[in-house]
Amino acid sequence: MTHEVRGVIAPGKGAKVELTTIVVPDPGPGEALVRVQACGVCHTDLHYREGGIGDDFPYLLGHEAAGVVEAVGDGVTSVAPGDFVVLNWRAVCGECRACQRGRPWYCFSTHNATQKMTLTDGTVLSPALGIGAFVEKTLVAAGQCTKVNPAARPEVAGLLGCGVMAGLGAAINTAPVTRGDSVAVIGCGGVGDAAVVGAALNGARTIIAVDIDPRKLDWARQLGATHVVNSRETDPVEAIQALTDGNGADVVIEAIGRPETYRQAFYARDLAGTVVLVGVPTPDMRIDLPLLDVFGRGGALKSSWYGDCLPERDFPVLIELYLQGRLPLDAFVSETIGIDGIEEAFTKMERGEVLRSVVTLG
Ligand code: APR
Ligand code: ZN
Ligand code: ZN
Repeated sequence: MTHEVRGVIAPGKGAKVELTTIVVPDPGPGEALVRVQACGVCHTDLHYREGGIGDDFPYLLGHEAAGVVEAVGDGVTSVAPGDFVVLNWRAVCGECRACQRGRPWYCFSTHNATQKMTLTDGTVLSPALGIGAFVEKTLVAAGQCTKVNPAARPEVAGLLGCGVMAGLGAAINTAPVTRGDSVAVIGCGGVGDAAVVGAALNGARTIIAVDIDPRKLDWARQLGATHVVNSRETDPVEAIQALTDGNGADVVIEAIGRPETYRQAFYARDLAGTVVLVGVPTPDMRIDLPLLDVFGRGGALKSSWYGDCLPERDFPVLIELYLQGRLPLDAFVSETIGIDGIEEAFTKMERGEVLRSVVTLG
């Protein structure tokens, strides 16, 4: 059996998104059919639309989602119909060399659903990040569903599926920030602000938020930054040093993905400090640093894939902390919109007016 539901596709490079009918198969072995309740609008969706990620149009957009499992295929035991789940785009395989070494958050062979979702004429869709969730029902690998406490609002829970987890995880998993650390976060969009929240959660003493947009700095302060630096007006390296007794921060998180801000991160950390790159660069970007500085300053230069999260370990805990009022995730939902509001949400995102617009589905 198949299901015909409404969903949003990117039909071709640079073309506006379209709301259309999507054909979703019933789950086969190892798969789950999920009724999507909420899905955040992420930069990656816009990158897909613009052809920046690949040329496998049409794409079924959306990937920061939460919903309820409607059906599961043969052999699925991890989730059952009725479960409230957050979708993730790194369902670990358990067999690759990273998984076998006990580091499944690095899994090199993550998987998605085997069957394809299509248009009514049979055209096969490429789901964004192997999910595709601006759609009333989606088909994923069962491992892409992580069961969490259903008391959480779907608009909030879904955000753990991508950007918010990336930022939180950069701080709590990759760095990891420890109690008493000084932390600077360069770039305070949804990802950077989540890193601010993660740094606070792990007990950072000083949290310095750096951005060029005063509105973003206000939000970062509300989310736990102890100091803010407008790097359009002030040299951020000097400012971070001045706020850390002249030393630099123990951890600097770069949440933009640009060479000039990576350089700032590199020089704004204390000796033996850690830089975490969670912003995603483009293929043309290069960085030139004196190798002697790389050696002489010691410490660690890390990148953070999806916050180095392990969904089944991290999502349920973070949802519990949210429900206990210890993780201010509501602030990341700037607005809820209908499934027909995605182009408008892209515009607001490009203007920096929102942390996240979240599509809610009936
Ligand atoms: N210096 C300081 N801040 C900057 C600079 C700069 N040169 N350029 C941009 N910014 C700020 C913006 O003002 C914005 O607040 O960086 C922030 C980036 O935030 P968003 O555009 O909202 O992006 P976000 O969703 O947070 O993602 C950040 O992480 O996952 C990746 O692909 C994602 O690379 C992107 C990054
Ligand atoms: Zn693996
Ligand atoms: Zn995303």
